[in-house]
Amino acid sequence: MPDDDSLKIRKDVWRLATWDPVLDWYARAVADMQTRPITDPTSWRYQAAVHDYVVGRDPIARAGEKLPSTAEQQKFWRQCQHGSWFFLPWHRWYLWYFERIVAATIVKLGGPTAWALPYWNYSDERNPDALKLPPAFRATTMPDGRPNSLLVAERAPACNLGQAVGDALDIDLRRCLTEDMFSVTVFGRGGGFGGPSTGFHHSPGTTGSLEATPHGSMHSAVGGDGWMSAFNTAALDPIFWLHHANIDRLWEVWRRRDPARHTNPTERDWLTMTFDFHDAAGAVVTPSIEQVVDMTAAPLRYTYEDMSDPLAGVPPRLRAPRPLPMEVSPMPEMVAATSRPLTLGTGTTTSALSIQAPTGPARLRSAAGAARTIYLNLENVTGAGAVGGYAVYLNAPPGASASQRADHLAGLLPTFGLAEASRPDNEHGGSGLQIALNVTDLVSRLEAQPGWDSNRLTVEFVYRGAPTDAATIQVGRVSLYYA
Ligand code: C2O
Repeated sequence: MPDDDSLKIRKDVWRLATWDPVLDWYARAVADMQTRPITDPTSWRYQAAVHDYVVGRDPIARAGEKLPSTAEQQKFWRQCQHGSWFFLPWHRWYLWYFERIVAATIVKLGGPTAWALPYWNYSDERNPDALKLPPAFRATTMPDGRPNSLLVAERAPACNLGQAVGDALDIDLRRCLTEDMFSVTVFGRGGGFGGPSTGFHHSPGTTGSLEATPHGSMHSAVGGDGWMSAFNTAALDPIFWLHHANIDRLWEVWRRRDPARHTNPTERDWLTMTFDFHDAAGAVVTPSIEQVVDMTAAPLRYTYEDMSDPLAGVPPRLRAPRPLPMEVSPMPEMVAATSRPLTLGTGTTTSALSIQAPTGPARLRSAAGAARTIYLNLENVTGAGAVGGYAVYLNAPPGASASQRADHLAGLLPTFGLAEASRPDNEHGGSGLQIALNVTDLVSRLEAQPGWDSNRLTVEFVYRGAPTDAATIQVGRVSLYYA
């Protein structure tokens, strides 16, 4: 492919006609990539295996087929970064090389140069269809009459019927876009916008708030109990790539929303981290994060059709903390925790936390006038089958209506990655997902309500999927931290 250095524009899929050339050529390229053997780095299945692959659980494995060598698999497969500050930059590279492979395939098939991946903005309030799967992904045939390569049967039923996928909670941007910091670590937990500082991290763990919602919640909403809900099959669905283009776009939306404070990490450990991929010619490349932070500069050279702020006017959640006197420790302090694991099913589970007044670093910080951040931590979440995920409420009045409950929402517990995080053979020994929900504003609001009991907080988990799902979930501990 001739080197094409023009700035490419990733477009909003919902502003394109059903079979706009961008989608028609995507479908043709996907069909072509699907004919390549899994040993070819530019094949559809190899690309999905770069995200994750489980031998024996490949839904389209062919009997007797040859896989790449173990050494090759170790270097290039099962690389996706989750529960980590590498989540965003790794997926940015992953998408970019994929986009180059698709673009080269389109040129080979006689199509135009400069193809760019579209994005699916399911949170777009200006578009009444935003939550539906775009029509090209549910059509049975492509414009040339062949079976549609963009249609995947293994999705939640609503998707291919053209109904809304998920609901307003799944696509809520108010939590992620108001995060002040890219990376926050609360006793090795906590997340910030982009995820906590870790080493190479191919397993779920503590997610940043963008990774939780809308990223994880939309994986589950689209996947149901099918492909998009698991690491090893997600990238086999062509919509995966448009979902991630949107997540990548939201990284830019967040940065632009408050350029002075919404900044990327500057640590060398982050900037100099490298990953292994293949380029469009199948050659090995080892790019670093440093080269990925500016998407409009070479080598990336792309931008998004729309990066406007959907929350224009909504103030940032955290106030800039006042600098602390040297002797005051920034350590978070735990003020409440459950003593027994909780088991969640497909109904509602309630647990009460008794809150102690802080006696350690949090007390000194409040004496020094520092701003308080409160985290509700869901620790060691393990299990399987709860594809609908949970909504978590604090002090929701019994019998409250849905709209009254909305004022008590602490956040979502999405279950994308749950099964992977629960397997004892993963790098964390199956210790599960860690979710840190920033509940600073919610607790401040609750404190101002009549009847507030400063010693007691009720945490309620409400299952969001079908009552017939086989949900067996354990939350090792629920805790409350002042940071
Ligand atoms: Cu690496 Cu949305 O998954």
